[in-house]
Amino acid sequence: MCGIVGYIGEKNATPIILGGLKKLEYRGYDSAGIAVIEEGNIELRRDVGKLVNLEKLVEQQPLSGKIGIGHTRWATHGAPSAKNAHPHIGETGDVVIVHNGIVENYLELKEELEAEGAHFNSETDTETIVHLIERNLGSGVSLEKAVRLSLQRIKGAHGIVVISSKEPDKIIAARIGNAGGVVIGYGEGEMFVASDIPAILEYTRRMSFLESQQMAVVTRENATITTLDGKAVPAKIDTIAWDPVAAVKGNYRHFMQKEIHEQARSLIDTLTGRVDFENNRINLMNLNLDAEKARKFNKVIITACGTAYHAGLVGKTMIETIARIPTEVDIASEFRYRDPLVDENTCVLTISQSGETADTLAAMEEARNKKAMVFSIVNAIGSQAMRVADGYISMQVGPEIGVASTKAFTAPLVDLYLFAIYLADLRGTLSEEERYRSIYDLRVIPDLAGKCLKREDAVREVAEKIKDIHNILYLGRGINMPIAYEGALKLKEISYIHAEAYPAGEMKHGPIALIDQDMPVLAIMPKDQWYEKMLSQVEQAKARGGILILVATDGDERAGELGDDVLWIPEAPWMLTPVFATIPLQMLAYHIAAIRGLDVDQPRNLAKSVTVE
Ligand code: G6P
Repeated sequence: MCGIVGYIGEKNATPIILGGLKKLEYRGYDSAGIAVIEEGNIELRRDVGKLVNLEKLVEQQPLSGKIGIGHTRWATHGAPSAKNAHPHIGETGDVVIVHNGIVENYLELKEELEAEGAHFNSETDTETIVHLIERNLGSGVSLEKAVRLSLQRIKGAHGIVVISSKEPDKIIAARIGNAGGVVIGYGEGEMFVASDIPAILEYTRRMSFLESQQMAVVTRENATITTLDGKAVPAKIDTIAWDPVAAVKGNYRHFMQKEIHEQARSLIDTLTGRVDFENNRINLMNLNLDAEKARKFNKVIITACGTAYHAGLVGKTMIETIARIPTEVDIASEFRYRDPLVDENTCVLTISQSGETADTLAAMEEARNKKAMVFSIVNAIGSQAMRVADGYISMQVGPEIGVASTKAFTAPLVDLYLFAIYLADLRGTLSEEERYRSIYDLRVIPDLAGKCLKREDAVREVAEKIKDIHNILYLGRGINMPIAYEGALKLKEISYIHAEAYPAGEMKHGPIALIDQDMPVLAIMPKDQWYEKMLSQVEQAKARGGILILVATDGDERAGELGDDVLWIPEAPWMLTPVFATIPLQMLAYHIAAIRGLDVDQPRNLAKSVTVE
């Protein structure tokens, strides 16, 4: 949700923090702020709107120091404004904090603090934390102790980072529950703190991740990690293999466009090291799954949010077809509260790009409490969803910056396919020939993805034609039904056009009433076992005067005649068509939004990593 960056070292903290925030801006972007300790005093700059406003402010009113913290915000309590932006400074002017999460008991705390004479300057829940810290400091304890005592009083999930001009040689960072990650970066004579890897990847690849209920005291030289109640925790330092260049826009106009094109590469990386084409085996080592465990599964439940949920819907068909295990898919915010029927023989699989989505993490916890085996498919290395699972598949796509997920959607489609084969193989239910066929099919992925990407100009032309529509209906069937959902989601997220998606067979039960000249229909109809059925639904839409945009297989003459426009995709094994049907829909949404001049990478009201309920 919000982004956090902290620096302590010998350099000027301001450009490092602003640069880090820039890389996290996709997480939240309604206001931003920075605080540094300059000649013994805390200097603070905050502004509403995007980071560029803060950058301008800092240009006009420069600040520099060797320790500082910064934040980009996605408002929960209190409207986006300069005074509600973080960092929040206390009344003494000695302590300043940035925070992710919601102080659930903030009204009660605020009343208590106000009764003691505290004055609040913002409408945020966060400000209670800084007042609490100040109150504790007033009793003569160290900053570390004051933060510890304060954290004991606040309810909810939090990531917080604190500095004080009275102890300018340290940053204190803490994590409670799942309100986003807290990453500590180790440099040479300098240290970093951030909510996510890309913010500091330019400076170091050596990082530690705080677990819930842990706190770090970070100095120029090192970090001392303890639990909130003071027990020492040995720091585990991971080396992050991500390429810092991957988090830079390069020659592309937007990150989303770059990330769409990166799929040629990310899909190769998804196969690399997992698929042994010579021996026809899949190896998903980090799943920690063996034949004994795999044979126990009586069902699979996939749970996730947003785009990741759509990937899960595709996974259901793959797992049921290849591994023949009943598979349910549930939205994480529903799963966590519906007292799901889960036991020690259930395989609960979550999918998450960020690995920090609050509802997804809560769903994992719910599954764990019910003794299920819990696995995850995750992109962000070291994130909570990766750490708390019994085993994981790491998406090999590198950082995804555009808020609308693209490469972190197609990679899990392939991961789920690999998972289905692996599971079936471990359970001994896959014949030699089926295994050979399913693995053989994987070879075409990079080439066919590349072919889809080369057709961008044709997709742009369609975008140009339909850029002014107000509504659109997406239809799909079978394994491509979720791709209709995903295509519609991409369009509404970034172009603000109302796009509705339906299983094509349901069209006649309602949405058909909407079809006319002003309600185009986009139908996904590759040559697969649902093709004939899709064809008849497309005919029905045509008969109602609907404008038809079809996603169809190269050489499909009927589609060519019927469609006002066709987004052509190459012929592919049916279970993998979702990967190729997705790419033109991503490009269509992208170009419509870009032609409309919208902020593609940071669409209004959205955030990349949703760490609140
Ligand atoms: C947010 C993002 C979506 C994403 C969803 C789930 O809503 O804007 O793009 O699909 O969260 O995120 P996750 O990180 O769990 O995949």
